[in-house]
Amino acid sequence: MSKNKHIKFLNKAHNLAKKKFGSTFPNPAVGCIIANSNKVISSGVTASEGRPHAEEIALKKAGDKAKGSTMYVTLEPCFHKSHNGSCAEQILRSGIKTLYIAKHDPDPRTNKKSIKKLKNNEIKVFLGLLEEKTNTLNHFFFHSLKLKRPFIKVKMAISNDEKIAGFDYKSKWISNSISRDFSHSLRFRSQAILTTSKTIIKDNPRFTIRKKGKIVKYIPTIIIDTSLKIPLTIKLLKDISKKRIIIFTATKGQKYKYLKKIGCEIILMKKNKENKMNLMTIFKKIYQLKINDVFVEAGGIFFTDLLKNNLVDDLHLFKSQKIIGLKGKPFIINQKISDLTLKEISRIKFGNDIYHHLKIN
Ligand SMILES: NC(=O)c1ccc[n+]([C@@H]2O[C@H](COP(=O)([O-])OP(=O)(O)OC[C@H]3O[C@@H](n4cnc5c(N)ncnc54)[C@H](OP(=O)(O)O)[C@@H]3O)[C@@H](O)[C@H]2O)c1
Repeated sequence: MSKNKHIKFLNKAHNLAKKKFGSTFPNPAVGCIIANSNKVISSGVTASEGRPHAEEIALKKAGDKAKGSTMYVTLEPCFHKSHNGSCAEQILRSGIKTLYIAKHDPDPRTNKKSIKKLKNNEIKVFLGLLEEKTNTLNHFFFHSLKLKRPFIKVKMAISNDEKIAGFDYKSKWISNSISRDFSHSLRFRSQAILTTSKTIIKDNPRFTIRKKGKIVKYIPTIIIDTSLKIPLTIKLLKDISKKRIIIFTATKGQKYKYLKKIGCEIILMKKNKENKMNLMTIFKKIYQLKINDVFVEAGGIFFTDLLKNNLVDDLHLFKSQKIIGLKGKPFIINQKISDLTLKEISRIKFGNDIYHHLKIN
């Protein structure tokens, strides 16, 4: 087969992964195609919440037809055990003859061990074709593995004069409905939302993911609340049986007991003299909970703290034409956007708003 054919099948595998992105956390979204004589025999994509893996699904569908075929997979098959054996072992058992892998899996449990094992068992393995596509799609996974903390994205809707709310904290609808819909799709592509008690108190957000007004997903929500100020009547605590709520606090007491009793996960932290908790420790603990990707929806005070601690990887900025005025609440404390070193990844016009996807250096 010519190289173009291999690119075509690997692209198909990538497209499967792309469609599933957002549902496979904490695992990356991986796509797999099994082909023979230029024909697709079966396909698979990482199942919701990460298991079974794409290769396992595709092999099961292919059955005996896998013998002598070629597998195209967007990430190295796992070396670690699952109930059916590792994906590497399942590939060996299947009789697959050739394997195209876009990228090796840096997870120390695999990290090229599957490639070695398959090659040692006379399977032809080609690594690296379309690697950049896997890097881009599952950036959160590689980033969090490397830094041992989640990939941190911050969403901000700002006025033309860089404010996030009025002097009285009224912040409803800085951005327009097209921007807000897009913002919901960013939530959908995230593993958890992280916010502050103050944003909850001022906004009382639901933090559900909605399409055309209908809830399509409940996303785990992490609340930073040193003194446990959140009222028990907030919308976030409604329908708690459908949600995962994680609270970082430094305060024990009656409210703590009640929140635990209704099913919130509470992580007790130390606070410093300024009544703050250590943000890096918080993110390390979030990573230990197997949350590898976090979407921050909070105000300018928290954003400034994240920036100071080098804890912003991606910024999703919606800039509207509205002017809030000098007394409005700033999006960064004592700084302007122009003070940050930013790299623009993309920019889209949503009506009168402009959306910027930015990387912070
Ligand atoms: N336009 C937008 O995209 C957008 C998005 C979200 C929110 N908002 C608006 O932003 C406004 C609130 O913004 P804000 O800047 O005043 O507040 P904020 O950034 O949401 O929250 C500030 C609070 O976070 C807590 N905090 C910050 N760093 C901390 C740390 N290291 N450890 C522990 N706690 C920490 C503190 O709470 P304690 O005082 O409780 O300790 C602090 O007062 C609201 O009106 C909200 O509606 C706008």
